[in-house]
Amino acid sequence: MARSWRGSLRGRLLAGVILLAALGMAAVDVASLVGLRLYLTDVADRNLTQARDSVQRYVGSRAAAPISETTLDTLVPAGAYVALLDERGRVVAETAAQGADGRLTPRPDLPEPVPGGFAEHPITVSAQGALMPRYRTLGFPVGAHTTVRPATGAAPKPVSTMVIGTSLALADDVVYWLVGADAVATLAALAAVALLGRGVLRVGMRPLQDMAATATAIADGDLHQRIEVARPHSEIGEVGSALNRAFDARQRSEERLRQFVADASHELRTPLTTIRGWAQLHLHGLAQQPELAERSMLRIEEEAAQMHATVEELLLLAQLDQGRPLADIPVDLGGLATTAVADARALDPGRPITVDVQGEVFATGDEERLHQVLRNLLSNAQRHTPAGTPVAVAVRALPEDRVELAVTDHGPGMDPETARRIFERFYRGDDSRSPGTGGTGLGLAIVKSITEAHGGEVAVTTAEGEGSTFTVTLPAARPSRC
Ligand SMILES: Nc1ncnc2c1ncn2[C@@H]1O[C@H](COP(=O)(O)OP(=O)(O)OP(=O)(O)O)[C@@H](O)[C@H]1O
Ligand SMILES: [Mg+2]
Repeated sequence: MARSWRGSLRGRLLAGVILLAALGMAAVDVASLVGLRLYLTDVADRNLTQARDSVQRYVGSRAAAPISETTLDTLVPAGAYVALLDERGRVVAETAAQGADGRLTPRPDLPEPVPGGFAEHPITVSAQGALMPRYRTLGFPVGAHTTVRPATGAAPKPVSTMVIGTSLALADDVVYWLVGADAVATLAALAAVALLGRGVLRVGMRPLQDMAATATAIADGDLHQRIEVARPHSEIGEVGSALNRAFDARQRSEERLRQFVADASHELRTPLTTIRGWAQLHLHGLAQQPELAERSMLRIEEEAAQMHATVEELLLLAQLDQGRPLADIPVDLGGLATTAVADARALDPGRPITVDVQGEVFATGDEERLHQVLRNLLSNAQRHTPAGTPVAVAVRALPEDRVELAVTDHGPGMDPETARRIFERFYRGDDSRSPGTGGTGLGLAIVKSITEAHGGEVAVTTAEGEGSTFTVTLPAARPSRC
């Protein structure tokens, strides 16, 4: 996909790399240029100091003999400038100034008069009437009785200070040349970084582009596409694996939803078909006899009631799925179990149902929903076991602030495959399909959702021919709080 570099991640990364490289190279360039300039200045200073020492030795060895202005330049290294000053700082005699190539250059621009102590340590001064060349200059005393004989042959004049200067033209040329060379080399290196960096980033970013293409394909409906993860432990590999897990989860949840909608439609279709059948019988005047007319109305009412119950259960599951907050108050589980058992006994008087509550047992949650958990478990024990099979309800506190509610029956129990699936929505065991036991298969799914919404869990212990025990564990509430 063509995309502008400006504003793209690649463009910004490349700009960052180039900027960092430019800063690094500029720092190296500046450090090397400053170092070179300091070194060259230091070389000039050492030459000046040596020249001063040899001049002072020469002057000391000559006693009172005057120095000749014509041979002044022989006192210092070739090309250096020399000026002799009297006590007031006026120039009495001086040489010409020369560049490294021997050509004459403007003399150093000394102050007039030159103050005492001028250039005691080497300093840089510019040329007279020009900025270049610059000179490194050093001033020093030449003894109390030193004189100079002017080139004109006039009488010797007393001098007290000598100033010598050496041109920095060569050093400056070297530095300027290096500035140019560094600039060209830096620009070339930055161009190479930009070109190589562009290629490296293009290769490095390819997995991200592949991810975007896969995500787009999935968004367009090709749910089976997945990102190819070449190196799962690299950063990009981890992102790819995480996205694949997210795509898997989305696909599973969509499949579950589709299944749920299909099951719900199927569940509602049977009573609707029955209702339509009886209604058409009525409409076509086939239910003339009062007996048949009444029967059709009764069946319509029964089926509508079943549909109503199913729709209520679906709504409840949808609400629990949405994670709507439940009531959060202490619920007396013992009292709840006693009431639910009394109701169950009234519905099925021929069945022994016992309840065992050990002490005060309080759970935190929604009383009506927890009542529903008990109702569903008791109705299952009644509906899926033969008439007269005993059922026991036990409520007790567990360590670590948990409470337990167990419903045990001594019915036929379940095979492991059935036991594994009973909490699925719309799952019904074979026994449930026989007439008289028919439910929608949502009872235990609702038990599971309500329990989990309370921060608890539900489990079943069962084996064929050995009955079943459903155990609900919930967070406890302290009785003192109620
Ligand atoms: N105590 C039990 N003994 C044996 N089988 C049971 C027991 N409780 C549940 N089952 C099996 O688990 C299946 C699922 O139970 P669930 O309560 O979810 O649905 P249902 O009872 O069939 O319908 P309803 O939605 O009306 O409750 C039942 O169809 C039944 O086969
Ligand atoms: Mg049930």
